[in-house]
Amino acid sequence: MTRLLLGVTLERICKAVLLLCLLHFVIIMILYFDVYAQHLDFFSRFNARNTSRVHPFSNSSRPNSTAPSYGPAGAEPPSPSAKPNTNRSVTEKPLQPCQEMPSGLVGRLLIEFSSPMSMERVQRENPDVSLGGKYTPPDCLPRQKVAYGIYIINQYGEDTFNRAKLLNVGFLEALKDDEEYDCFIFSDVDLIPMDDRNLYRCYEQPRHFAVGMDKFGFRLPYAGYFGGVSGLSKSQFLKINGFPNEYWGWGGEDDDIFNRISLNGMKVSRPDIRIGRYRMIKHERDKHNEPNPQRFTKIQNTKMTMKRDGISSLQYRLVEVSRQPMYTNITVEIGRPPPRLARG
Ligand SMILES: *[C@@H]1O[C@H](CO)[C@@H](O)[C@H](O)[C@H]1NC(C)=O
Ligand SMILES: *[C@@H]1O[C@H](CO)[C@@H](O)[C@H](O)[C@H]1NC(C)=O
Ligand SMILES: *[C@@H]1O[C@H](CO)[C@@H](O)[C@H](O)[C@H]1NC(C)=O
Ligand SMILES: *[C@@H]1O[C@H](CO)[C@@H](O)[C@H](O)[C@H]1NC(C)=O
Ligand SMILES: *[C@@H]1O[C@H](CO)[C@@H](O)[C@H](O)[C@H]1NC(C)=O
Repeated sequence: MTRLLLGVTLERICKAVLLLCLLHFVIIMILYFDVYAQHLDFFSRFNARNTSRVHPFSNSSRPNSTAPSYGPAGAEPPSPSAKPNTNRSVTEKPLQPCQEMPSGLVGRLLIEFSSPMSMERVQRENPDVSLGGKYTPPDCLPRQKVAYGIYIINQYGEDTFNRAKLLNVGFLEALKDDEEYDCFIFSDVDLIPMDDRNLYRCYEQPRHFAVGMDKFGFRLPYAGYFGGVSGLSKSQFLKINGFPNEYWGWGGEDDDIFNRISLNGMKVSRPDIRIGRYRMIKHERDKHNEPNPQRFTKIQNTKMTMKRDGISSLQYRLVEVSRQPMYTNITVEIGRPPPRLARG
């Protein structure tokens, strides 16, 4: 009798365990699909958007929507979502201000790097972008006084890489082009946004756009992370004296920028984690960009260094400005680390 009872109990336990396993499996599958949703075009259907979902790089029909009404200045990769209308009737009426949220956004974008892409194709699919990578919405007045341009800042020579200093150069060089620029989006060249609702414009507070990168499992790696893609208005940028010029090699400069923001009484704003998603173009660590061994001590001293080291102390030599159809390529010589810092 007890044996029988024992058997029944065992059976129940087994069933319970099996159920748990099944539940676990289902949850794992849901998480998996969420991560790869853009491949399956699965979750984006729940975005409640009426526009047809289109591969950003495909040439099938797209909703006849407007391009984003806010555009960036500064180093920004060509946004695949910024495809404007093909044939827009030119209105004689005075232009209306652009919508707060551009119509025709598609939400999550399919970003994969297996299909070949050429500059000619990007150009063909973005006919309203003019020489140097400039763009202005043809049918409305941008709300912010944001001019639009894409600048690639290229470090001349073979010395140690210095990301933050190049970003400072981008700020000044863009302003030389058009002193009315008042919003700057700073982007690593290897990051591709995966959602066009992550609007590249400036906000009340300095913005961190790259909240979830594929390499970090689409999560913020730590609360004070400010790397990848960020955006500051001209006044926010000047308030923190721009970015540091003295971080040579990989790492630390983004934490220094975060410190500058906090120390100046501002707070980083971010998009929703489901929208601020990025895919990174896989590549080996570049030569001349070894981790900077000084970075941990340097970020302790931002408070002391930020007043003297920044956009106010920036020095560089312009080597070449080359206007390409989709971007402006600016090559600059920015020097090398002081001898004692050379090579960690
Ligand atoms: C979707 O389209 C229908 C009709 O075309 C409209 O009534 C509805 O408001 C739209 N929904 C959204 C979320 O735009
Ligand atoms: C895309 O465009 C190319 C030529 O530009 C054309 O040959 C091809 O059929 C198009 N594909 C689709 C899906 O429209
Ligand atoms: C798309 O274009 C058609 C015809 O040009 C127009 O009637 C329609 O309102 C447009 N839709 C949107 C969302 O702009
Ligand atoms: C395209 O634009 C041109 C000139 O703006 C106009 O003459 C033509 O009718 C337009 N075509 C369509 C299909 O709207
Ligand atoms: C930018 O210009 C430099 C110098 O001419 C060149 O080496 C580099 O390949 C260019 N980069 C791009 C993306 O055009």
